[in-house]
Amino acid sequence: MGKMKKIDIVAGARPNFMKIAPIIKAIEKAKACGSSLEFRLIHTGQHYDQDMSGSFIEQLGIPAPDINLRVGSGTQTEQTARIMTGYERVLIERKSDACVVVGDVTSTMACAITAQKCQVPVAHVEGGLRSGDWTMPEEINRVVTDSITNWFFTTSQFANENLHKNGVEKERVFFVGNTMIDTLLEYMPKFHKPPIWDELHLRNREYFVITLHRPNNVDEGKKLLSLLSEIVRCSQGRQIVFPVHPRTVKTLAQLGSLPPGLHIANPLGYLEFNYLVMSALAVVTDSGGITEEATVMGVPCMTMRDSTERPETITLGTNELVGTDPLKLEPYVKRLFAGRWKKGIIPPLWDGKASERIVSHLNKLLTIGGGIDQE
Ligand code: UD1
Repeated sequence: MGKMKKIDIVAGARPNFMKIAPIIKAIEKAKACGSSLEFRLIHTGQHYDQDMSGSFIEQLGIPAPDINLRVGSGTQTEQTARIMTGYERVLIERKSDACVVVGDVTSTMACAITAQKCQVPVAHVEGGLRSGDWTMPEEINRVVTDSITNWFFTTSQFANENLHKNGVEKERVFFVGNTMIDTLLEYMPKFHKPPIWDELHLRNREYFVITLHRPNNVDEGKKLLSLLSEIVRCSQGRQIVFPVHPRTVKTLAQLGSLPPGLHIANPLGYLEFNYLVMSALAVVTDSGGITEEATVMGVPCMTMRDSTERPETITLGTNELVGTDPLKLEPYVKRLFAGRWKKGIIPPLWDGKASERIVSHLNKLLTIGGGIDQE
């Protein structure tokens, strides 16, 4: 076995945990077979509640973080600053050989910048996605992260093309598939009913799941209420289950009464939430990750956004981009009730093996080729 190569793996917010879990497992598996990669898990603490972080770490078998920066809530700039100073201290104390960041949250961007400034090469899992909408914080995070990423692990041909258009050499782009789907496929047999299933007497394919947390949908009470009212109006009396993100809770609390038929729930664990999606009639969401999961589970998905960074969920999958105007929803729901929703196929390489491919590339990049061409 050669000299050990140490990789930092960064997670901070809820959608990061399902992306890092299979990478950690693949590193451990490779190590048992003689690979010289080892990891250090950095939790930034951007999400800190049991609901938003702890339960995912437990359910997905993620080891306790080696380091928790405990940055907590704040504006994104405050969080970025705290993550950067915290992670810089960690790297000064013990530099790593590479930093693996996933997705597009504040923690992703902040750690990528810090690593690169400390001359630690950056690998971006889910690199190359673009919505083209700079009003979304996630798009800024993607653009900034990708502009200082050494190695891109991509989920789709669209991502490869975006990177190509930005002048990234193809030697630095590795089309590996989707680590979020690695987790989905691994844990599907363990999905189970949340307690609200019995409380609400839910039945297979007879209810909607909705999730909304984007600032432009949920930060303003009037907008959120008009969205929820329209979803209820279009749903033809079906039950609607709404597990609520902390950002949305704050606005809901100001609304007073909610449209009837809408059932509010706390954020659910991974295994419970995906059981709910898998068995739903359809999902209405403004999340990106859920459109990928719904695609793989073959569940109709309506996205309440004006753009998407995951067009393959529409061109290949079960997702449709409705828009943020609530009045645009009705024709889609009518199509659903008419039994005319598209079937969709699973996008290429979303096969549960993306993490193994990533680890195999990292092994080669860090131990054989060794070097990176830094500008
Ligand atoms: C973040 C990500 C978003 C992702 C979402 C999933 C960024 C820019 N956005 O948005 O891409 O889809 O996570 O959840 O990184 N809060 C709690 N408990 C927690 C965490 C947060 O109460 O454990 C509160 C915060 O105080 C804040 C609100 O929830 O008021 C939002 O949290 P924040 O981390 O700022 O961003 P998200 O909206 O969750």
